[in-house]
Amino acid sequence: MERKKVIVTGGTGFIGSHTVVSLLEQGFEVVIVDNLINSSLDVLDGIEKIAGSRPDFFELDMQDSTRTAEFFATQTDAVAVIHFAALKAVGESMKKPLMYYRNNLFSMVNLLESMTRHGIFNLIFSSSCTVYGDPDVVPIRESNEVKPALSPYGNTKKVCEDMIQNLGRSEEGFHAISLRYFNPIGAHDSVEIGELPIGVPNNLLPYITQTAAGLREELLVFGGDYDTPDGTAVRDYIHVMDVADAHVKALNRLLSGTQKKRLEVFNLGTGKGSSVLEVIQSFEKMSGCKVPFRIVGRREGDVPEVYAATDLANQELGWQAKRSLDDMTASSWRWECRVRQLEV
Ligand code: NAD
Ligand code: UD1
Repeated sequence: MERKKVIVTGGTGFIGSHTVVSLLEQGFEVVIVDNLINSSLDVLDGIEKIAGSRPDFFELDMQDSTRTAEFFATQTDAVAVIHFAALKAVGESMKKPLMYYRNNLFSMVNLLESMTRHGIFNLIFSSSCTVYGDPDVVPIRESNEVKPALSPYGNTKKVCEDMIQNLGRSEEGFHAISLRYFNPIGAHDSVEIGELPIGVPNNLLPYITQTAAGLREELLVFGGDYDTPDGTAVRDYIHVMDVADAHVKALNRLLSGTQKKRLEVFNLGTGKGSSVLEVIQSFEKMSGCKVPFRIVGRREGDVPEVYAATDLANQELGWQAKRSLDDMTASSWRWECRVRQLEV
């Protein structure tokens, strides 16, 4: 049977690469486009080792409308696009807002123009729980209010969702699913691929693993006076392979035409919140390493407590996160050990 071709933008990045593995394992043909601004070609070797086949790769900056159009003109047999390509550092987006708007919005416009021009009418978009801002109630449902974004990065996710919504109304046949990820962490079980932040990590898990590996002196825990059980902020951490599996389910839903709306939105979380201290405890238990940490002031823009209601994704996508927080911290540590060539 002929394999269905899917274009994966940002496919050498953290979530993209894990999703590519799941797609290849489910029999899809995959073409990756990435400008390698936050990833490297070595990732393709890791993907090949796990999945037994190598995706096609095109180096392309999707901000370039001419080159994006030229690329899509050669891909008219693709059945869908999964769009991961974006800049994603919240703090950096506060300092360089226009770089974020240019990259994330221009890329999206170029992508949507090319898709509609060539009749590729199925899109899965990487959105974020950041579109909910500081929620009035948790767990957060998809029907909850989308609040003004706290960062330019968050605003790009909101505007991209609006663009897709508008296009769905104007372009007969165009269908999309927006997946709002909570906090993806962890690595593939094989540890052939994982998260490799460039420079000092912004996110909690890479900071914890780098501290345990001796690259950082201590972890600063941002805020110990939140109105949460232990005073530290609560997030919904989700294993990146659970996120990857949800993309395959969403893709099959698009391709089978079982969508209920032109644009459907699903939360991808576990439904369980964990505090920063709980994450540290899980990491220490699973790795056997101590993480030196100090509680300091709150980080600007952080919200106290965010976790997902997952029933819509459970019912409609037939998907549920399977892996526990311990699975996540253990695999993040095994990946760090592999990258730093440490004994686990
Ligand atoms: P990542 O940085 O590892 O992957 C993104 C990839 O996109 C990188 O390989 C980068 O080189 C590429 N890219 C960026 N701009 C590009 C451009 N103009 N043209 C071509 N390629 C480009 O990030 P990730 O963690 O895998 O995130 C993937 C997506 O999920 C992003 O859209 C991000 O905003 C979203 N998201 C991530 C998280 C998270 O916590 N990691 C949470 C919510 C949403
Ligand atoms: C943020 C964004 C999210 C984005 C993601 C990817 C918001 C509300 N969320 O998630 O949309 O997709 O980044 O970059 O903007 N922490 C520490 N010490 C550290 C690092 C983090 O205590 O050194 C704490 C944070 O204060 C937070 C938790 O750990 O409470 C998780 O932080 P992080 O991993 O950065 O993710 P978010 O900020 O939740």
